[in-house]
Amino acid sequence: MTNILVTGAEGQLGQCFQAVAKEFPLHNLIFVTKRDLDITKPKSLKKGFDLVPFEGIINCAAYSKVDLAELEKNKAKKINTEGVQNLVSFSEKNKLFLIHFSTDYIFDGKNKLPLKEDHVTKPLNYYAESKLAGEEVLKRASCLNTSIRISWLFSPYGTNFVKKIIKLSNSKKDIQVVNDQSGRPTYGIDLARVILKNITHPDFFSYNCYHYANKGFTTWFNFAKKIIALSGNNCSVKPCSSNEDKTHVERPGFSILDTSRIENNLSLSIPDWENALQRCLNRM
Ligand SMILES: NC(=O)c1ccc[n+]([C@@H]2O[C@H](COP(=O)([O-])OP(=O)(O)OC[C@H]3O[C@@H](n4cnc5c(N)ncnc54)[C@H](OP(=O)(O)O)[C@@H]3O)[C@@H](O)[C@H]2O)c1
Repeated sequence: MTNILVTGAEGQLGQCFQAVAKEFPLHNLIFVTKRDLDITKPKSLKKGFDLVPFEGIINCAAYSKVDLAELEKNKAKKINTEGVQNLVSFSEKNKLFLIHFSTDYIFDGKNKLPLKEDHVTKPLNYYAESKLAGEEVLKRASCLNTSIRISWLFSPYGTNFVKKIIKLSNSKKDIQVVNDQSGRPTYGIDLARVILKNITHPDFFSYNCYHYANKGFTTWFNFAKKIIALSGNNCSVKPCSSNEDKTHVERPGFSILDTSRIENNLSLSIPDWENALQRCLNRM
């Protein structure tokens, strides 16, 4: 039995880990919320460790408010960069492994081919900048670690696009959704299962960066149409361009992640995003 700390347990991805934890009885997952353990406070980490020692950390804690980050730069940096540094220092000292999550937003979206892990990074907004700085911290770490970049995370939990579209389409006859950003939706439940299944795989930590997302790709517009079609709501979706929506900070136009590294290294067969969406809706 391996004791593994899961930080940010009340967040979207943290809840996905909680939902599948029972399927992996060989791992004793210790779920902690921000109130139990604040990653920006090293003393809080030590207190948690002294209470129940653990062999590794899955870091689901993050500042994830992409638009608000422009106004709360210090907060975003404190959690996404300095918080990660605290986790690294603690993991180095106590010889722990550390699994961390990052984002497709570290790319500028100007490429037109699927993005590999070594593709040049160029964040377009402060959230992405703070996440990239978190990755850099991990790259310099001497503990066993990896950063998993994911895109368009969705699940039955927390705040995400699928839940937003269902809520909107319950009350509106038509909605507008941007049609000039392409990416690969990531089902949090599939991601949590892949990690828990492979954490003891001898080659899991042989790369310090992976890309993971469900198979296939789409635009937000087509994603919304599929969500509404599968949920049976009667709402029409109209395409619009990102330029029409001045309330949001810039996001990459093309952020289709190439996931072949994780697929080949761990012999994964990743389900299609449409199949994942149907399973997500069944759970909701
Ligand atoms: N959502 C996406 O589409 C997406 C896409 C690509 C990558 N990612 C990455 O995937 C990971 C998980 O994202 P998510 O959607 O699950 O985020 P989330 O729902 O915002 O969850 C993050 C959790 O971390 C907690 N937290 C914040 N500050 C903390 C601190 N100092 N110490 C401990 N916990 C703290 C938050 O609590 P409060 O809410 O109370 O602050 C929240 O419960 C993140 O690394 C994110 O950058 C997400």
